[in-house]
Amino acid sequence: MIRDLWYKNAVIYNLSLATFMDSDGDGIGDFQGLQRRLDYLHGLGITCLWLGPFQTSPMLDDGYDVADYYSVDPRYGTLGDFVEFTHGCKQRGIRVIIDLVVNHTSDQHPWFQAARRDPAGEYRDWYVWADRKPENAGQGMVFPGVQKTTWSYDREARAWYFHRFYKFQPDLNTSNPLVQAELLKVMGFWIELGVSGFRMDAVPFIIATKGADVTRPVEQFDMLRSFREFVQWRCGDALLLAEANILPEDDLEYFGHDGDRCHMMFNFQVNQHLFHALASADTGPLIAALEATKPRPATAQWGIFLRNHDELDLGRLTAAQRQAVFAAFGPDKDMQLYDRGIRRRLAPMLSGDRRRLELAYSLMFTLPGTPVIRYGDEIGMGDDLSLPERNAARTPMQWSDEPQAGFTKGDRPVLPVIGKGVFDYRRVNAAEQRRDPQSLLNWTERIIRMRKECPEIGWGDFRVLKTGRPEVLALRYDWCNNGVVVIHNFADNPCEITLDVDGDGEASRLVNLLSNDHSEPDGKGRHRLVLEAYGYRWFRVGGLDYLLKRSEA
Ligand code: NOJ
Repeated sequence: MIRDLWYKNAVIYNLSLATFMDSDGDGIGDFQGLQRRLDYLHGLGITCLWLGPFQTSPMLDDGYDVADYYSVDPRYGTLGDFVEFTHGCKQRGIRVIIDLVVNHTSDQHPWFQAARRDPAGEYRDWYVWADRKPENAGQGMVFPGVQKTTWSYDREARAWYFHRFYKFQPDLNTSNPLVQAELLKVMGFWIELGVSGFRMDAVPFIIATKGADVTRPVEQFDMLRSFREFVQWRCGDALLLAEANILPEDDLEYFGHDGDRCHMMFNFQVNQHLFHALASADTGPLIAALEATKPRPATAQWGIFLRNHDELDLGRLTAAQRQAVFAAFGPDKDMQLYDRGIRRRLAPMLSGDRRRLELAYSLMFTLPGTPVIRYGDEIGMGDDLSLPERNAARTPMQWSDEPQAGFTKGDRPVLPVIGKGVFDYRRVNAAEQRRDPQSLLNWTERIIRMRKECPEIGWGDFRVLKTGRPEVLALRYDWCNNGVVVIHNFADNPCEITLDVDGDGEASRLVNLLSNDHSEPDGKGRHRLVLEAYGYRWFRVGGLDYLLKRSEA
């Protein structure tokens, strides 16, 4: 039955092992450290953990350069620690999904080492080679400004190899059936060790045709279907969550018209337009993005996020929209990255303004899909712009006001903890916020609890309600004879709106889910609501007896 799809009403939390919790004092987070923090995550109310890559790696791209898919990097622990960890999650009812980074390997991976050594060997064709420098070598870089080319010469191989990302990340020849078979084996391995699915890295590149003669890569969508079939054969409710920053017109190709490809994708369209709306207080383009990404199979789901471990990618906005976001949230050159994004955390972008943080989070929890939180954002952590590239937003979790923010007993954390300014760990940390009922941490815990009680948002259909004001977004969700209305004011000014939530001559009461400020319709069935600057409301349509009215279908 369709209601069994756990990811439809999940709350996902993303973390990098290296910077979450160190148990042995070497300054690098590890599985035993994470294990000790599971009760914190359980208390926060999240239902699924997404772990960044933790397999053996030279760590030149935060583990997105894997050198052995069937292992745990010794810095993080052992396979035994991993299984203890998934077991600990299972005991607490938390699912685990892990990054699957298979567009490329590290150049240190034994497959690449074998491939470069022996042109006639079995691994040569696992990568993408050219005898001469391809003409398009200067095109298609994912990290412009830092990455200079997509083809590099390998002396040992006496050939050029293709790398969509950094030079040390040679692309796998994913069209090779032997490579495909191996990738399934990798998935099968981790499923057997207790994971509920994968956040698939760089999906459009995995499925693209690759080669020196490829001028316009073509996506081979059947690969997604075979991945999905495989994971579901091995584990009926396993999830594929795709990282695919694509255009809405391609959404159904990735989900599969029959819902037979990716279960979930991050909604990059909505993410970028959401930041534009936060910057401009004009919800028009955000509404267009919501409508454009609305069509999807019933089993498919969007991942709704604010920030992640990468830069805030604004590449899909118009130049003018992007400039508006830069001006509001990343005006300095060193806040920007790769000519398209912002490398800051959410709280500093919003000047630590609690009203705006709540507005942004309330949106993340109520836009159509499943929310995905980045570690540390629940306490409003800051960034460190003195660190290179995306590391600015990857500093250690701030657990307490103890040395190194309680992240490590050692004195050399893998990245420095934030120890000065407004976001200093002595001011912003989980231990202190735990004790303050009004803290962002406790607010987040309460909002997660309420979000879980609103399956309409994860499951239901939405429609945009007219507010008559460009700065106010109102959405109504319907599911199983129950309705929820959420309203957000993006402007710095209070305003009054008139809202017709029924539209069919009915006049429903709106019961406020977050406070006692309910709303009765006027004689014409309309609601008059006054919203404060950056204000938000979550309402249930009708009374609190909604569960008595919920239908089975
Ligand atoms: C996308 C990941 O999110 C990013 O962190 C990484 O650098 C690239 N893919 C390459 O794996």
